[in-house]
Amino acid sequence: MVGFEAYSRAKHEGLHDWQKAYRWPFMFFSSVLVWNLIGAGLFGFLINPPLALYYMQGLNTTATHAHGALFGVYGMLGLGLILFCMRGLTDPARWNNKLLAISFWCLNIGLAMMVFLSLFPQGLWQSYLSFTRDYAYARSAEVIHGPVMETLVWARVPGDIVFGIGAFAFAIFVAQAFWSTRKARTAR
Ligand code: HEM
Repeated sequence: MVGFEAYSRAKHEGLHDWQKAYRWPFMFFSSVLVWNLIGAGLFGFLINPPLALYYMQGLNTTATHAHGALFGVYGMLGLGLILFCMRGLTDPARWNNKLLAISFWCLNIGLAMMVFLSLFPQGLWQSYLSFTRDYAYARSAEVIHGPVMETLVWARVPGDIVFGIGAFAFAIFVAQAFWSTRKARTAR
């Protein structure tokens, strides 16, 4: 329901000039909805039933949920709130929206790559071993340092790089927004 509300608001967004200044805080808040659904909702419930907890507690399915829920929800929420505050502290007309777009998409796509290319397949593989052999084996050094898990750890690298670019772009954006606003104010 919140998603539909956000979607219909998004369609009206940009009708007025003041609304354009809220575009990026709004985008980050929208991604909170998506990650709430996937990271907290789907992956949270996946590991929550007693049967799942019996076989899967502390496997990488937990890390899958933790990444999707914690950064996906509260990380994106924090970034959206930073942008919301920056509207008052800096001049949005001087914002580098290209950098923000790069940051937004890289953070979201990078997080999705981490979760779906690496953590979730690792969790599924460990769960399979826990179901078919036993829980201790799924957590053993033999499995964690086995070829499947090690390959999936390396599969983490592309997502980390994309995510890192997003974090770097956000930091540069913030520094530039404050710097250019300050320069314009001291020039007056
Ligand atoms: C935004 C909301 C949420 C956040 C930020 C969050 C975050 C986390 C984190 C960081 C962990 C890992 C803790 C650790 O490794 O010690 C965790 C574990 C867990 N979460 Fe969530 N979570 C959220 C929502 C949910 C929901 C909605 C459910 C269930 C419907 C859920 C079920 C669980 C369970 C069962 C575990 C423990 C799994 C295990 O011990 O293996 N979480 N959560």
